[in-house]
Amino acid sequence: MLTIKRLTTNYEVNPNGIGKEIQFGWVLQSDRRNVLQEAYQLQIAIDSQFKQVIYDSGLVKSEASHQISPLGLELKSMQKYYYRVNVTDNKGETTGYSEPGYFITGILQSEEWQAEFISAETLKDAENAKGTYIRKAFQVPKKIKSAYVVSTALGLYHLYLNGKKIGNDQMAPGWTSYKKHLVYQLYDITTELTEGENVIGAMLGAGWYKGKMGFVGLRNHYGKQTALLCQIKLTYEDDTTEVISTNKNWKGYDAPVVFSEIYDGEIYDAQLEQRGWNKAGFNDEAWRTVESIDFDKKVLQPQGGGRVQVIETIEPKRIFKTPQGDTVIDFGQNLTGWVQFKVKGKKGDKVEITCFEVLDKDGNVYLDNLRGAKQTLIYYCKDEEEAVYEPHFTFQGFQYAKITSYPGEIKVCNFEAQVVHSKMAPTGSFECSNPDVNQLQHNILWGLKGNFLDIPTDCPQRNERLGWTGDAQIFCRTASYLVNTYTFFSKWLRDVKADQTPEGGVPHVVPDILTGKSDHDWLLSQGTHSAAAWADAAVINPWTLYLTFGDKQILKEQYDSMRSWVEFMRTHAEGVVWNYKLQFGDWVALDAKEGSYFGATPNELTGTAYYAYSTELLAKTAKVLGKEEDYKTYTKLHQEVVEGFQKLFFKADGTMTAQTQTAHILALHFNLVPEAYKEKTVEGLIKLLNKENGHLVTGFVGTPYFCHALSKNGHTKEAYELLLKDDFPSWLYQVKMGATTVWEHWDGLKPDGSMWSADMNSFNHYAYGAIGEWLYRVVAGLEIDEEKPGYKHTIIAPHIGGDLDYVKASYDSIYGKVTSNWEVKDNKVSLEVTVPANTTATLYLDQAKQIVETDGITFNQGETCTYATLGSGSYRVVYEIN
Ligand code: BGC
Repeated sequence: MLTIKRLTTNYEVNPNGIGKEIQFGWVLQSDRRNVLQEAYQLQIAIDSQFKQVIYDSGLVKSEASHQISPLGLELKSMQKYYYRVNVTDNKGETTGYSEPGYFITGILQSEEWQAEFISAETLKDAENAKGTYIRKAFQVPKKIKSAYVVSTALGLYHLYLNGKKIGNDQMAPGWTSYKKHLVYQLYDITTELTEGENVIGAMLGAGWYKGKMGFVGLRNHYGKQTALLCQIKLTYEDDTTEVISTNKNWKGYDAPVVFSEIYDGEIYDAQLEQRGWNKAGFNDEAWRTVESIDFDKKVLQPQGGGRVQVIETIEPKRIFKTPQGDTVIDFGQNLTGWVQFKVKGKKGDKVEITCFEVLDKDGNVYLDNLRGAKQTLIYYCKDEEEAVYEPHFTFQGFQYAKITSYPGEIKVCNFEAQVVHSKMAPTGSFECSNPDVNQLQHNILWGLKGNFLDIPTDCPQRNERLGWTGDAQIFCRTASYLVNTYTFFSKWLRDVKADQTPEGGVPHVVPDILTGKSDHDWLLSQGTHSAAAWADAAVINPWTLYLTFGDKQILKEQYDSMRSWVEFMRTHAEGVVWNYKLQFGDWVALDAKEGSYFGATPNELTGTAYYAYSTELLAKTAKVLGKEEDYKTYTKLHQEVVEGFQKLFFKADGTMTAQTQTAHILALHFNLVPEAYKEKTVEGLIKLLNKENGHLVTGFVGTPYFCHALSKNGHTKEAYELLLKDDFPSWLYQVKMGATTVWEHWDGLKPDGSMWSADMNSFNHYAYGAIGEWLYRVVAGLEIDEEKPGYKHTIIAPHIGGDLDYVKASYDSIYGKVTSNWEVKDNKVSLEVTVPANTTATLYLDQAKQIVETDGITFNQGETCTYATLGSGSYRVVYEIN
């Protein structure tokens, strides 16, 4: 039977808040093999019964089941639309119309904003990090048909209606380059209104907008006052409408949040709560009038998905006393979010909790690696009633919480950790027979959960938590296996584009709060933008989204940004050698000089290698978008850079000028090695690996591609050995040391229990987790075909090895699940694969001597391996290896 499993709008299920760009997609499911879509019919209506259809595609003969953007679609703002699809396949089966999906539009023309940004703060509050309330009562005189609210803030906000928080969003509206790009949220409040008086209200906090951000310790990066923007559209049953929006008639007051900062935590005085402030009947005569704040509403964009929420909760594993006598809760997992607690005390009693990542060698509280971040929650009780508290405008990176003050007995049942990050559908799963590798996989995933809180951050705990472009670039492909990253990264890429220098330079961090503000910092005074491997996020991340989703829209949106970055390199390169101001090189590699962050691979080499790589991806992008001239220009430029690289970084005897692992990895992985020197370069890498006794000494740049460089060049065995090393330095060393996330440094915690310098020692830094993509792409063998990206055609090429008895992996693509499960017993491999409906695959059998069970597949013998072309369906093949 052919059915429709999932409908999506802009890759999200039933999004609230869609702008002008709209793309539909659906997942087909069939119990037959070799199923392809032959035709579809898409309808959009304003009612779920489809009586008022506003768009009908008619029968469209096409295989396309994604990126469907109906032409001439006329949508109204703040309106719910339903859509459904009917599909016919190549077997003549028809799904019938699917259950409808829906989407709600945001404000489609900026002139439709009637609301003003309003603030309960004044300029005198610039140095303040306190919370404020804003409220307004309004009348609903008759029966409501629908009601939607759009809202956002300068700062952070929680929105309330009639005493209840609206939606589950936290830390909204997140962190963007506010002045150029600010997102707003849309909520359906149809069922929340009552006839008569209703009250809308908000609590606001400083957040990223005006709080202290960046290790240089400055505040007010975007403005000095928090502000709210809110517009409600009511449609009555008689089809009349009414708009209620923020203006000077709203009232404001101080909130019980007396202090809240991203790094430092929150102080909440419940004694300052005003009962019923967000409900009807409250007397707000004593409240002050609000001030209206000028802000360009053209930069507003709806946030249809990927909103930050409490995604899961974790119970304490234990509460214990340290040797120094501190009471500490251990949650058993390094995570990002906050502690929620219950408390019953007397008026004025205090709870104080400080969150931190690790215990020191002696088992005592270790705060040094948090640097300036206080990560402390303080709560004052208002009466003897039991209260439940969680912070509003801050988050912490922690596994442990030290309880400095708490009235009454400290019991496990009164505390829980709430895990907070951007909501993204889980897509990947990987499991194998080696428990340490499974723990590594777990740690990689938790690195993502801990650092995908609205923007991709380097770390979530110390006074940093910035959108370091390099980290985001390195981890993007791995992340895109684990979860659906489309909404998350496409939003961030808008800021990459917005914050580029007029010449195309790409900031080290996005949103960029460093440029123009870092003159006194020893490192950043040398430059705040355009470092190799960091700035290349502008090209690599959109390309990765294109590969993962087959989505040309992201390439269209980012093309100018991608191109201007490559042009920036071209303008500032010397010949083809790219090295510019501050470079991070092979950051924190172990071949660095004692005490230095900079690895031994020369910046000219790293820079030029990335110059070649980004130029190659830009040329490919130009081709995909049909920009013929650009395609030719950048293909030529790419050749020139490659030739230049080869002349400069290879000696006449075919060895590389830089005898570092990373130099060889980059040359091999980016195809920069002259054909004649290929073998020598591979041998060179193996030699450098053996010199370290089979260990890596690579940093941010070399590490992600190490295993690829080996396995692509006939050394899968060595790649497995590298993966499976478990003494220092290695991925599994961290696992053996009890890590639950990935560390910033190979020697974050040394074998003798001492630590890398506290000035930069995060235990939740996802960069080295980039090994994750090798597990999916090579070990499980779920590889994207660049010619038919988005898993329209998958290359399934698992690599047996590493003494693994089995691997079970799947990726839930936009077409559905593609899986690769293999098991080895007595040199016999059983391989089960699934190819989603409306896609095809090529299956490569690694090391196959003889096929024992074919499951009806016709195999071909290629030069180096056995392969077959597969249509959709599930297959089980058994074959013998050496
Ligand atoms: C961050 C890194 C970042 C680096 C730049 C550090 O402080 O934590 O992850 O990429 O600076 O080299």
